[in-house]
Amino acid sequence: MIDPSIVPIVDPNPLPAPYWLFKLLLLVTFTLHIIAMNFMLGGAFLAVVARFTSKGKEFRNRIFLDLAKKVPVFLAATITIGIAPLLFVQAIYGQYFYTSTILIAWPWFLILVLLCIAYYGFYYVVYNGQRRPGPAGIVLLVSLTFVLIVGFIQSNNVTLMQTPAHWAAKYFASPTGWSNNLSDPTLIPRYLHFVTSAIAVGGMLLVLLALARWKSDREYATYLFQYGGKSFMYATMAQFIIGTWFLVTIPRNLRMIFMGDNPLASVLFIIGILGTIAAIFLMSNAIRKQNIRVAAYGVSGLLAVVIITMIIMRDILRDAYLEPYFHPHQFAVKTQWAVLPVFLVLFLAGVGLWLLMLKRYGLFSGNKPPLADTTPTANAAAETEVELVH
Ligand code: HEM
Repeated sequence: MIDPSIVPIVDPNPLPAPYWLFKLLLLVTFTLHIIAMNFMLGGAFLAVVARFTSKGKEFRNRIFLDLAKKVPVFLAATITIGIAPLLFVQAIYGQYFYTSTILIAWPWFLILVLLCIAYYGFYYVVYNGQRRPGPAGIVLLVSLTFVLIVGFIQSNNVTLMQTPAHWAAKYFASPTGWSNNLSDPTLIPRYLHFVTSAIAVGGMLLVLLALARWKSDREYATYLFQYGGKSFMYATMAQFIIGTWFLVTIPRNLRMIFMGDNPLASVLFIIGILGTIAAIFLMSNAIRKQNIRVAAYGVSGLLAVVIITMIIMRDILRDAYLEPYFHPHQFAVKTQWAVLPVFLVLFLAGVGLWLLMLKRYGLFSGNKPPLADTTPTANAAAETEVELVH
């Protein structure tokens, strides 16, 4: 711990809405960001695996094409929804977030470059996946690597922002903004925890695609169900090892918040563990009995509960890290009543519109590529696919 007075003072401008509301909006929008990110990252990961294991397996190639078409849409959603928690985190944790961002300034800027290249690559795969599966697979792998690096930079920043005691040494070791937070023992397990959960959610995406095709294309849907369901199960099982690793790297006094010191964190921890075990059993049962509805609705419901509990736990942990410095009661609040209701209505309308767009777009039915390929072969393939779906 360092002298708390070293941390820059809280912004004297009053918050335009109560602290609790900003906190709630941070959690809600971060959850949406992470769900979109999981579909994108997990979808791209499973598409790469399907592509490189497709020799002699026709359905694997179809999975590659089906997933690859969806990845750019989820990347767009990840980026746009990421803006919202970015604003709320700055409003509440500005002094911490700005300081860590400045310390890792160049990797942080690199995010924009990496995302542009990855985006371009994902679209290359949409256009060329069918005609040039070989190069498309490699481009997809490169783009996936870039978004993995982006996530890693985010984890560096988030872990650094909550450990002000490390800032001065980082700055003096590299005042040019090329720092990272590799010396933090929680960084790697924490990051792997995110990546592995993305793979599990990518598996769930395939289960949802299987549900959409269950009546019209049973053979392929059964394959999708197996592939997605097993990916979900294995990735979730791995979380027990990675999660335990993460837990033991957290300093003991902070770790204890999940073991009785903080009742809410402890209850959420238990719910998270039980929800994870239940999800694995339910998925395994559903695969054995070929019950796609239980897998798609039941396991998705449990998964949503687990994701929400983990995100709240992450937030409680951050506040525990910052406890010596961060005092929310110090915030001056001057609620802008004229603007706040308009903001909330627009926010809810925006989320509603987003859900409507997803439905209209048929994201989970797999029948509409984000950009139509103009080659005759691709058009014929897309038409066949539409016929299969309807
Ligand atoms: C597309 C690639 C992206 C990936 C894979 C990704 C992944 C992640 C991950 C894993 C975290 C959690 C880090 C941790 O807690 O250790 C995170 C946090 C965050 N991301 Fe993203 N992200 C991406 C893009 C973006 C973009 C473009 C933005 C902003 C426009 C953004 C905004 C945020 C914010 C603000 C947080 C921190 C929220 C908080 O601490 O409460 N992300 N991201």
